[in-house]
Amino acid sequence: MLGLTTILSAFLAFVSLVSSTSILVPLYVWPEDDSTWAPVFNAISSYPDVQFQVIVNPNSGPGETAYPDENIIAGVAKLNSHDNVQVIGYVHTEYAERDISEIESEVSTYSKWASYKAKNITVSGIFFDEAPRTNDAEMISYMQTVSTKAKSSDLSTVVFNPGATLEAGSVDEYFKAADLIVEFENSYSAWKTCIPAEQFSSSKHYAKDAIILYSAPETADYRAVVQEAQSMGLGAAYLTSTDNYMSVETVTKVAASFD
Ligand SMILES: *[C@@H]1O[C@H](CO)[C@@H](O)[C@H](O)[C@H]1NC(C)=O
Repeated sequence: MLGLTTILSAFLAFVSLVSSTSILVPLYVWPEDDSTWAPVFNAISSYPDVQFQVIVNPNSGPGETAYPDENIIAGVAKLNSHDNVQVIGYVHTEYAERDISEIESEVSTYSKWASYKAKNITVSGIFFDEAPRTNDAEMISYMQTVSTKAKSSDLSTVVFNPGATLEAGSVDEYFKAADLIVEFENSYSAWKTCIPAEQFSSSKHYAKDAIILYSAPETADYRAVVQEAQSMGLGAAYLTSTDNYMSVETVTKVAASFD
């Protein structure tokens, strides 16, 4: 029989597992050579207890070919060789205006990367960029459809990126369709001058909420942001120095800020 302490510690381990904050890295920069993604690999291996969700984006989506370019293949396989990494594929939805068949086709392409034999380029989820935040039945239905498509294609982690607070009325439905929603994608200075709790639709969804801060200067207090995200129990956080996600120089600094 399991002792009460065993059950309790298993429960606590479970709670900390599901409630821990990960790093959500928009890895949009093209891997020109081994050095381009090196800061990300260094951070991943230096901080094995930090969970990384890494968004790959070959060509504003998976690209036209069945499998990506060899540089992406090498990089994704290397990401997959680490236990603390989940690779997420980038798809844009144009605020639920894009033809849904195009989205389904891109999701399907990412899903089929798992069949590539020479290396493990399996993708574990989809990051739906330009996601709607509006309380609108058609938009909600659209996002439910694309989420279901991802999940039924073995892409089990579904992220929506409206980048701003979801409109009241539809919040629970959006969160039901996604594992993570970025409700704050904005500059570091916007975060510093806002009241964090007011940026999220509901504290009950904090564990599935994410923040992405750009234009965070060298002198910014990365640690304070990460620790605030952790103390709120947010699902994921990220900060970067530029405003276009083309630099990954700050990844180690972000990872180092996790306790
Ligand atoms: C490939 O990588 C994925 C994601 O990290 C992992 O779940 C899977 O077990 C790996 N497959 C093999 C055959 O190693």
